[in-house]
Order: sequence, then C-alpha cells, then structure tokens
Amino acid sequence: MNFTISSFDEYKKAYKKSVEQPEEFWASIAENFSWKKKWDKVLEWNFKEPKIEWFKGAKLNITENCLDRHLKDKADQPAIIWEPNDPTEHHRILTYKQLHEKVCLFANVLKSNGVKKGDKVCIYMPMVPELAIAVLACARIGAVHSVVFGGFSAQSIADRINDAQCEMVITADGGFRGTKDIPLKNVIDDALVQCPSVKTVIVLTRTRTPISMIKGRDKWWQDEINKVETLGMIDCPAEEMDAEDELFILYTSGSTGKPKGVVHTTAGYMVYTAYTFQNVFQYQPEDVYFCTADIGWITGHSYIIYGPLAQGATTLMFEGIPTYPDAGRFWDIVDKYEVNTLYTAPTAIRSLMQSGLDYVKDKNLSSLKVLGSVGEPINEEAWHWYNDNIGKGRCPIVDTWWQTENGGILISPIANVTPTKPCYATLPLPGVQPVLVDENGNVIEGNGVSGNLCIKFPWPGMLRTTYGDHERCRQTYFSTYENMYFTGDGCLRDEDGYYRITGRVDDVINVSGHRIGTAEVENAINMFTDVVESAVVGYPHEIKGQGIYAYVILDKESDDLELTKKDISMTVSRIIGAIAKPDKIQFVSGLPKTRSGKIMRRILRKIAEGDMANVGDVSTLLDPAVVEEIKKGKL
Ligand code: WT7
Repeated sequence: MNFTISSFDEYKKAYKKSVEQPEEFWASIAENFSWKKKWDKVLEWNFKEPKIEWFKGAKLNITENCLDRHLKDKADQPAIIWEPNDPTEHHRILTYKQLHEKVCLFANVLKSNGVKKGDKVCIYMPMVPELAIAVLACARIGAVHSVVFGGFSAQSIADRINDAQCEMVITADGGFRGTKDIPLKNVIDDALVQCPSVKTVIVLTRTRTPISMIKGRDKWWQDEINKVETLGMIDCPAEEMDAEDELFILYTSGSTGKPKGVVHTTAGYMVYTAYTFQNVFQYQPEDVYFCTADIGWITGHSYIIYGPLAQGATTLMFEGIPTYPDAGRFWDIVDKYEVNTLYTAPTAIRSLMQSGLDYVKDKNLSSLKVLGSVGEPINEEAWHWYNDNIGKGRCPIVDTWWQTENGGILISPIANVTPTKPCYATLPLPGVQPVLVDENGNVIEGNGVSGNLCIKFPWPGMLRTTYGDHERCRQTYFSTYENMYFTGDGCLRDEDGYYRITGRVDDVINVSGHRIGTAEVENAINMFTDVVESAVVGYPHEIKGQGIYAYVILDKESDDLELTKKDISMTVSRIIGAIAKPDKIQFVSGLPKTRSGKIMRRILRKIAEGDMANVGDVSTLLDPAVVEEIKKGKL
C-alpha cells in the first residue's frame, strides 16, 4: 500500500493536497483497492439536503478487498486471532484463506435462507469469530447488517429490527462475559414477539445454555453450514455492489427520541477505514493489532473488522472483559500474542489503573509499539498511566476522536509522525476540515479559541442518511449550522492549532465511551408505574467518565425507597438495557423549570456534580424554592 504517511512533512503535504484537490487526493488513495469498475466521479455533494456521493458509478464488493485480494500472498497469515473469555479454553486463529472459506460458506447459508441483496439482517452475537463471519457474509451478498450490542434489551432490539424491517436475525444461545452467561437467544425470543418481519433466526451454539428453538423459524448455525457444504455450495462469488449501496446500519443515541439508524455505504467507508487504520496506527506487515472494542459499536465495525482486514492485517478479537479472571487480562493477551498495537478506551484504562501495578509488573509488554485511545476525552492521569506503565514511555498514544456517524477517525495523531500532547486529539487527518463555531454560527478563526466542533467538507466515511428518515439526518447534523456537519462536541484549538475535545454540548451522556441520550433514559424511567416525571443528567464518574444521575418525582410515598430505586433501574434495564441504568437516583418533589416549562438541566448538572456554589441565577424559575430542596436532598 503506498498511502502510508511516514513523516510530519508528508502529513502536511497530504493534508494540503486533500484540501486543495480533494477529488484527486481521494482518487489516488482509492487506486489501491480492487474495483469491479472504477468511479465516474469522485465526489458529488451538498450539505443542504444533504447529498453525499463518493466514487460515484464505481462497482465493488468490500469483502473482495478484505479477503480475496489477500489470498495471493497472505493466504496463510492470520486474519483473526480470537482469545476466548476463559483463558484456559483454546484460542482460535483464522488465516485469510480460512476466513474467506468460512465467509463464503455462511454467505451461502444466508442465500439458501432467502436473504438477498438489500435485505436487512440483525446480528446479536457474542464476540466470537462467527460474529465477524456473519458481518462479512452479509457484505458478501449485499445484505445490509445491523449489529446490535449484546447489552441491549429485547425492547431495544425489537425497535431496531422494526425500524430496519430486518428479515433475519443471527444470534447465539448465549455469550460469555467474565463470570456471566448472557442469554442472547432468550432476549431475541422476547424481542421477536413484536417483530413480524423476521422470518428466520440462525443460532450459533456457544454457551450450551438451554434455549427454545421454534420449528420453521429457528435454525442451528452448524446444521445450515452442513447443508450448504453437502450441496457443494462452497464458494460464493461476491455480489457486485454500487459504491453508494448501503453496507450497514448502526443505531446510535442522540439528544431526542429513539436511536437513529446511521447508514454507511460501501466504497467511501471502505477507503476511509482502510486509509485511517493504516495511517493512524502505522500498521506494518505481520504486526498483531488488538482493538478491545465490541463489534456491536462502530469502533468494532471499522477497526476490528473492515479497516484492518482491508489492509491485510492480523486483528485480535477478545471475547471477554478487561477484569476477568483478573485486572491483568489485557496485559496477558499482549504478552501471549506479542501484540504490537493496543487500541482501547479511557474507561478501561482508568479501571485497570485503579487495580494497581501488580497486574502489570510481570507481563512482557515489550512487543507494544503503538497505543490508541477512543470513545471519550482521556484525562491527564489516565494518559500518563497508560504512557508510563503500558507504553513504558516509548509508544506514541494516538487519542482518536470520531463518532459513529463519521465511519472512521477524524482527528488524531498519526503514530510516530504527529508530536503528541496529553489529552489532545491533535490534528485533523487528511481530508478532514474542522471548524469551530460560536453560538451564533460564526466561524471562529485563529488559535487559542474554543467553540462547537463542525466539519465543513465531506470525507468518504461519513454517514449518508439516517435509516428511513432522511429529514431527521438533515435536522440533526446539517441544520444547526449552514453548510456544515455539526458533531455535538465542544472543542478547543490551542496556540499550536491542536484540537482538544471537551465533551458533548447536547443532552447526550458519554458513559464508559457509550453514548446515551438523556431523553431516552427519562422516557424509560417515566414508564415506571409510580413515576410522575424525571430529569436525567451526566455527572463526573471516576471510572465511567460520566455517570447517569436521575432526578425522579414519585406520585405516591414509597415505604422502601431503596427498593423503588432498584425497581426503577430494573425498568430502565428492561426498556433500554443494563448499560443505561442510572448510577444515582434522587427523589425530588419538583424539578427546576422555566416559566415556559423547560427543565433547567444546567442547574441539575451543577447539583449532580456537587458544585452547589455555581448553580447560578434561579430567580427566573417557576418555583425557585425547588432548587434549595434538591440541593439539600443531594446524597
Ligand atoms: C462521541 C461519539 C467512534 C468512537 C467511539 C464512540 C466522544 C469519541 C473521543 C476522543 C474525546 C471522544 C465524543 C463523540 N469521543 N472519541 N478521542 N476524545 N471525545 O462513538 O458512540 O458515536 O460517540 O464520543 O463526544 O461525539 P460514539
């Protein structure tokens, strides 16, 4: 691959070219991929509708780029190394040849079950190689995958399945995470009561948990594989896809309403994830690359599966959690497989930091070359701990800022190229044109300034729409500021022109690197039988970054407030999933509201933070006394 940037000078040149001649720039990157037909036009766009088309007219299949084209000289190189939850269970390695075979076989399973190009397939699976196989098999035949993270509830899955009208669900009996067995198939059974569009469920066996299997609808993964194998349906030619054909839908929360289905398409996403993977991490042949994310999130899509495989890398997939069997698990894995690149989240770093250095000290981490961080701002203490104790001061930390909607990393150091600075995502990657904007929509020029972060020019990996509701896409991302994509993040640009992301400026909470909408949590709390009203805000949490703080008004006295809190949490868990459970619940008799009835979250945020002195002016509130009461009641 000849698009690897290897000096700061080269970065500056590439950046300049990407701004001055974006079409030429991206065309020269795209030349490195395998196309069934090349594009007629590199880019057509406007942010008004919005309409974004990259590599228009081109034909390709992303799996040919991720698999087939590596068979010539990398057939026997590991594509996926899989480390199980239980360290005493055997690990698995799939070479490019084996992965190709398995993807083709399973693609034939999809076909023989009636899945066609354009059909939507929901995937709800544990972190096992079959999850990657299922994802790639969909892409092989042009089916659109919608992966749902294993921590979401039946209700959340049903909402997602119905929104996308999925025809098929791929799941497993269960999944192992630490000491827990997650009953995935049971959750799917509960979801499907509400999902008439689903005709078939393919079930992988993993935990051997007893499950129900409904004749005509539910089929065992292995039986289906055996069937196509017996029929000699081994190979599966890759479906010819248009550059702008949908590749996948991934749901993400915003400040209002139900989660949105972010739509990514084929060619631009492929080029962008491969380009950014290669450059940010400076991947070298035979390196072992370990991203600790779950494939249920965008990081897993782009930087466990598509980006690394497009580059012919060896990507390590881990089924478990960082603290099982103990807080040394990541370091054991680095030691065992001689991992060269570790890409993880600040929340994991903070939790392992708290467990102490005993878990690090006997592990051989000398293979490490590059460390990555993603998901939320990394605080200074965690940055230094990661740098000193894991990287031993010799591995650059790439603090990668991006979002589900972006497809790939937008602002980040390039390892060993961009001088790093703790807590800074540093500089935009080539093709990315960030601007800071003030409340009134004026672009803030110069350095040493802060504002709302927008991007003023398209990049190939950006979202194209929100599934089934293009107007919502326009509203959410392209209407706040004219002709710009609005990220929802606040940001400062320091004297050196380096970017530091300061966090969300909307009603979105970032819990352990996962985005949770306050409105969604409020809706779930309000479904509890005795709740009149609630307001949810984020507050600083030592490990999670932000925690969920809920102010709740009950319509009658509870004789056991602690039990009521647990009931409320259980309700949220049922409606959204365990990841959205409030960390703290405070019962109140009223909420601070303006005369027009708007909840003053700013005040609630200050109180949740314990910053009582800066609650500010409350005199314009409908009922200022309520603030004093809430302050007093704070635990
Ligand atoms: C939000 C996106 C795609 C990454 C995984 C999360 C925050 C992400 C950073 C970072 C500061 C970050 C932002 C962003 N965020 N990375 N390096 N520094 N903040 O994806 O769920 O779509 O959330 O995560 O607030 O808007 P996501």
